[in-house]
Amino acid sequence: MSNYSIKNLEEYFQLYRKSVREPENFWEEIAEEHFLWRKRWDRVLRWDFSKPEVAWFEGAKLNITENCLDRHLAIRGNKTAILFEPNDPKEAAQHITYTDLYKRVCRFANVLQSKGVKKGDRVCIYLPMIPELAISVLACARIGAIHSVVFAGFSSQALAARINDCDCRMVITSDGSYRGAKTLDLKGIVDQSLENCKGVSTVIVVKRTGEKVEMTKGRDHWLEPLLEEASDECIPEIMDAEDPLFILYTSGSTGKPKGMVHSSGGYMVFTAYTFKNIFRYREEDIYWCTADIGWITGHSYIVYGPLANGATTVMFEGVPTYPDHGRFWEVVAKHKVTQFYTAPTAIRALAKESLDYVDKYDLSSVKILGTVGEPINEEAWNWYNNNIGKNRSPIVDTWWQTETGGIMISPIPFVTPTTPTYATLPFIGVQPALMDENGNEIDGNQVEGRLCIKFPWPSMARTIWGDHKRYYDTYFSAFKNKYFTGDGAMRNAVGYYRITGRVDDVIIVSGHNLGTAPIEDAINEHPAVSESAIVGFPHEVKGNALYGFVILKEVGETRDRENLKKEINQQIAEHIGPIAKLDKIQFVPGLPKTRSGKIMRRILRKIASKDTSNLGDISTLLNPEVVEEIIRNAQ
Ligand code: WT7
Repeated sequence: MSNYSIKNLEEYFQLYRKSVREPENFWEEIAEEHFLWRKRWDRVLRWDFSKPEVAWFEGAKLNITENCLDRHLAIRGNKTAILFEPNDPKEAAQHITYTDLYKRVCRFANVLQSKGVKKGDRVCIYLPMIPELAISVLACARIGAIHSVVFAGFSSQALAARINDCDCRMVITSDGSYRGAKTLDLKGIVDQSLENCKGVSTVIVVKRTGEKVEMTKGRDHWLEPLLEEASDECIPEIMDAEDPLFILYTSGSTGKPKGMVHSSGGYMVFTAYTFKNIFRYREEDIYWCTADIGWITGHSYIVYGPLANGATTVMFEGVPTYPDHGRFWEVVAKHKVTQFYTAPTAIRALAKESLDYVDKYDLSSVKILGTVGEPINEEAWNWYNNNIGKNRSPIVDTWWQTETGGIMISPIPFVTPTTPTYATLPFIGVQPALMDENGNEIDGNQVEGRLCIKFPWPSMARTIWGDHKRYYDTYFSAFKNKYFTGDGAMRNAVGYYRITGRVDDVIIVSGHNLGTAPIEDAINEHPAVSESAIVGFPHEVKGNALYGFVILKEVGETRDRENLKKEINQQIAEHIGPIAKLDKIQFVPGLPKTRSGKIMRRILRKIASKDTSNLGDISTLLNPEVVEEIIRNAQ
C-alpha cells in the first residue's frame, strides 16, 4: 500500500529514483496492488520512440469500468460517486451513488448495444456537463466502444470534422444545453453537422432543456424510453491493456485536429495514481474539478482518475459568472469541497471582481487547490493562495497535455514546497529533459530549453487516429528518441520546472489550445480575404488573446471595415467555435515574409504585444517596408 500514497519529500525522492532506475518494477507494483485485472500482463513495458511504439502491461486483460464501478459496490455502494451541480443554483444538486452510477452505466451500455454498437466502434459524444456525459463515456468503455467526446462549444463544422475523421456511426447529444443565462440548441448543431456526415446512422438524444427539436425518423431516438427497456446489468467487454479506450481531438499548429488515441490499461494506472497523490485524495473528501469533460482534464480528473479511486467527484454544469461571480465559492461552501481544481483564466477573471463574492462564503473545507491549462502568473497565484486557500492550502500547478493523458509535472501537496509560477518537480516515473537548439540535452540547473520527455509513461497517447506518421512527425522527429512537448521550460537552482509557454504555433487562449492554421483557414475562406496570420498577445484574463492580420482582396477594399471584422469573426465561430474569435483585427497591405515565403510570426507577435523596440534585423525580409506600415496602424 505504501507506494500508492506519498508521505514526505524523502519518500518522493526515493520513489522517484526507483521509478527511473527500475520503471518496470515500479509500475508493476502499482498496477498489481491497486487494480482489478482479468488477466495479468506478460510484459510491463515495450517501447521504441524511433517508431514510435509504446506498450504497457501487454497481454493483460481488464475493463476500466470494473475498476471505476463494480469493485466499489461492496465497500462504498452508497457513497456519492458523482455530485451533479446544475447550472441553475435553484435546481437541486444530484447525489449519484456508486450503485446508481453502476446501474445507469449498465443500462446505457445496453442501449448502445441494442443499437448495434460493438467493441472498437467509435461513438461521438456531444453533450453538456450533465450526468449523462459521464455515464455515456463509461457506457462506451463498458462495451469496449471507443468514445470521442467533442466539447459542446464547438461549431457544427468542427463537430462534423471530428465525426468523420474517426468514422463515428453514432452521436450522443441532448436537446439543448444551459450556459449561464443562455441556452444552446445542441441538437440543431448536430443536425447541421450530420448533413456532412453520411456515416452516422443513429443519434441518441438526452432530454435536458425540454425545447422542441427535430427528430429524424429512423435515425434519432430519445434516450429515456430506450433506458426504460434496458437491463441494469451489463457484462463488461474484456479488453486488452493496449486496446484504445478513447480518442480526444486536440489542435495542431498545422492541418486538421489530431485525434489522440489513449489506451485502457496504462491510462487507468497513471490517471488513478496521479489523482491519488496530486490531490491527496482521502475517502471522505469531496473533489471538484471545474473543467469540462470535453477536454482531457475532464476525462482524466473528473471521470476516470477519481472514480478509479472511489472518490466523490463534482460535475458542474454552469459557468463561474452565473448567477454572479460568487458561484464557484457558493458551490465550494455548499458541498464542502476539499480539493478544488481550476484554470488560471478562471482565477484571473474572478480576481478582477470584488472580494465580497469570496468572503460571503465559508471556504474552510478546502484543503488543496489546483490549476491547469496554461502558465499561472504570480499575481493570480497569490490571489488564489491568499483568498481561496487562505495561505494554508497548497496549490498544485499541474503541467500536462492532452497527449500525456495525465499530470506530468506538479507539486505533491504537503510534500513539495511550492513556488508561484513553478510546476515544480516531475511526477514519479516522468523523466523530463531540456533540449537546446542543436538537439542536445542541457544538464544542470538554472537552464532553459525545449521541454521533452525521454522515457515512456503509462498514459501517453499511443498514436494519432488514422495517421501514425503524423504522430511521429509531430512529437518524435524534432529530438531523437524523445517525446517533444511543444513547450519551452526553465529549470531553476533547485531543479524546479517553470513552463514558459508554447514554442510552436499553438496559442493557449483561456486555457484552450488553439492552432493558428485552422483559424487562418477559416478566415481565408471569406470571399473578401486573400491571406491572414494569427498571433497571440497578452490578455489579462484570457492569458492570450488573438490578433489577426488580414490582407484583403480587391473586392474587399471597398467594403465597410467594421462589418468585415464582424463577418470574419462569424466565419471563425462557424468553423471552429466562439472561443477562437479574434479580439483584434488589422487589415494590412502585406505580411512580413522571409525570402522563402514563410510568415515571420515573431515580428507579428511583437507588434501585437506593442513591443516593437527590438524587432531584430528585418532587412533580410522579402518586404521590410510592410513592417513599418503595420506598426503605424497597429491597435
Ligand atoms: C498545453 C496543453 C492538460 C490539460 C489542459 C490543457 C499548457 C497546461 C500548464 C501549466 C503551464 C500549461 C502547455 C501544454 N499547459 N498546463 N500548469 N503550466 N502551461 O491541455 O489543451 O492539451 O494543452 O497547455 O502549453 O502544452 P491541452
